[in-house]
Amino acid sequence: MKKLLLAAIALCTILQGQAQELPVPSDEMQKVRNEFQDRKFGIFLHWGIYSMLGDGEWVMFNKRLNRQEYAHLAGGFCPSWFSAREWALIFKEAGAQYVTFTTRHHDGFSMWDTGASDYNIVKATPFGRDVVKELSQALAMEGIKPHFYYSHMDWYREDYPLGGTSKHLPHPDSTTNWAQYKAFMNQQLTELLTNYGPVGAIWFDGMWDHPAGSGFDWELKEQYELIHKLQPKCMIGNNHHGKVVEGEDFQLFEQDLPGENTAGFSAGQAVSQQLPLESCQTMNNTWGYSITDKAYKSSDEIIRRLVRAAGMNSNFLLNIGPRPDGQLPDEAVKILQDIGHFMRTYGKSIYSTRGGIIPPQPWGVTTQKGKTLYIHILNSEEDGRIHNNGLEVVDGKPSILLPKGRYNISEVSLFTTGTRLAMRNEPDGTRIILPKRPTTDIVDYLLEAKLN
Ligand code: GLC
Repeated sequence: MKKLLLAAIALCTILQGQAQELPVPSDEMQKVRNEFQDRKFGIFLHWGIYSMLGDGEWVMFNKRLNRQEYAHLAGGFCPSWFSAREWALIFKEAGAQYVTFTTRHHDGFSMWDTGASDYNIVKATPFGRDVVKELSQALAMEGIKPHFYYSHMDWYREDYPLGGTSKHLPHPDSTTNWAQYKAFMNQQLTELLTNYGPVGAIWFDGMWDHPAGSGFDWELKEQYELIHKLQPKCMIGNNHHGKVVEGEDFQLFEQDLPGENTAGFSAGQAVSQQLPLESCQTMNNTWGYSITDKAYKSSDEIIRRLVRAAGMNSNFLLNIGPRPDGQLPDEAVKILQDIGHFMRTYGKSIYSTRGGIIPPQPWGVTTQKGKTLYIHILNSEEDGRIHNNGLEVVDGKPSILLPKGRYNISEVSLFTTGTRLAMRNEPDGTRIILPKRPTTDIVDYLLEAKLN
């Protein structure tokens, strides 16, 4: 019997080993990753000189702008209402636990006082203030972790090796010098990881300009090692839309939840079983400030996405494109206030949880902390009406079916009032009978169940 048991344990270990695509992290890094998963909700900020044109962060590319002409924007960039402290307080009130800031986007403009190029916010603008410094300090005061977005692709520099996207820009002066460009990036990353206190993560983007298989070598190993050497607790994520590679500490999903591919970026992304997950999404349809894009999702819809992400074991990184005057769009502030209200009331069912033992169902998702299972029954809005197609009416009351699985529930109650709900066993699982009316303002119902 003992032999059998040992053999079974060995087999499990082998199978687990096969499922692991990456080396096991140090205990220290595992702790960092767990803490990151506990934080659950972050704010993404896309802010740069492009905000002045009010047409998103890709405007330089979309309008095929001349690099020197575009660079003149810097001379007029003076976001007079910018207050890092005010932003940090708004994010704190919303319940955000970390903020990912675009230190340098594809347009190549650096938002800090870099010594690697004069094309930066301190040397090239009348504003002359180091936004990365002000923001990191203000966030630290509120206990919010700064994460730094950093673009691999660069539409401004002459030494950047033009790739699939960038080659379409008018770049007669391109000199392509990878060694020089790489040294530039590593110098900048060294500054970001030396002069701005503890950084939660470096969030890379734009590598798809030279995708895997194109023959181009980004020499990521060297760059990742540099980051982990400078700050061993700094995580690395890369929005390369592909398989996670060694050195990465979390997996990113753009405009989709893990496993979905509605936006078309995630076809090559198998969901990692090993790394924390993060889904980044916009409030409207643009990352950088857009003066015309008023297609904001409702606060309810955004909160449902956040809850759904948690139920799929993923963090949720919600984007804002601040205006060129340094303020957050009014719509964004309102949405953040609504999220804050939700998180103050129901955050216990989100923060520090993991995806629950019951996988996503037609009626919603579950999150779990220890032996407590949170059952989020999520509506959807269609044609101006609220629906939940997963609810079934039994004896005149709505109900949900928890499918059979390797778990046992001893009791279920409403999260807000603690009222116990009736359960009954059925051949396919356990049916929970719900009160006629929803109990929370946003999720249709939130239940709390005790697992044996
Ligand atoms: C895409 C875009 C970029 C944006 C990012 C956010 O990669 O190129 O503009 O910053 O998505 O996920």
